[in-house]
Amino acid sequence: MKNLTDQDIEERYRYACEVAVEAANCGFKFYQQRESLVVEHKGDDFQDVVSKADRTVEDLTRTMISSRFPDDDFLGEETGGGDESALCTWVVDPIDGTSCFLNGLHNWCVSIGILVAGQPVVGVVYDPNHRELFRACKGKGAWVNDKPMRVHPGKDVKDGVMGVGVSHRVTPETFVPFIGNLLHKGGMFIRSGSGALMTAWVAAGRLIGYYEPHMNAWDSLPGLVLVVEAGGVSNDFLANHGLLQGNPLLLANETIFAQLSDMITQRLE
Ligand code: IPD
Ligand code: CA
Ligand code: CA
Repeated sequence: MKNLTDQDIEERYRYACEVAVEAANCGFKFYQQRESLVVEHKGDDFQDVVSKADRTVEDLTRTMISSRFPDDDFLGEETGGGDESALCTWVVDPIDGTSCFLNGLHNWCVSIGILVAGQPVVGVVYDPNHRELFRACKGKGAWVNDKPMRVHPGKDVKDGVMGVGVSHRVTPETFVPFIGNLLHKGGMFIRSGSGALMTAWVAAGRLIGYYEPHMNAWDSLPGLVLVVEAGGVSNDFLANHGLLQGNPLLLANETIFAQLSDMITQRLE
């Protein structure tokens, strides 16, 4: 496939928004009947849950994307894939916040990122419970529905609330010192249960930043585009095979980013 033009990227951006809304509407039907879903655990981690809803929504996104853009690569949480040398890769988490979804909590979303030549260019997060579509395309700004987004203007961690995430993919020791450091500096945090949705809230200026010691690409990619297009900065999440192996994720405005970096004991790229 030859290089993608701006128009090729614009077509994919628009379609990613359509796919996210359709996928979330499909997920929402399962959410309304969640008592009938059989909950499975992935591997040994009892907090890492999945159901037929995740698989059905991922199948829908994969089918929609491959029917419209058959030469594009696809990486999904439930079915894998992903080729670091592909020209264009769609990266999808069909339901981010599965634990919330299965427990009847509203913090879940569909997360779609697009990489072109290894660079994040499109980020889309759709929250069907609040009918909020967070979307951004490189160089074209970041939007929630039809409203432009800007990151929080705070100059100190005390000026707002941090979003954080943690999983059993890391040891508690990797995460706990950061929380202590944040509290000592007068900061505060929430963990909503959906990392992708919290990164969208950073772009919208609702959270002052986001930190998680290990995030997967299907949760992180939209935030990388949303936050940068909303005037913020990120660490180099895709370094060292971040697409396939994940990495720490740190997002904030430039001033807060520097303060947060000092509170993180592990080295960030
Ligand atoms: C998880 C959520 C959680 C984050 C984890 C993710 P899932 O995704 O985003 O907030 O802390 O890193 O794995 O399992 O709900 O799709
Ligand atoms: Ca996820
Ligand atoms: Ca998921």
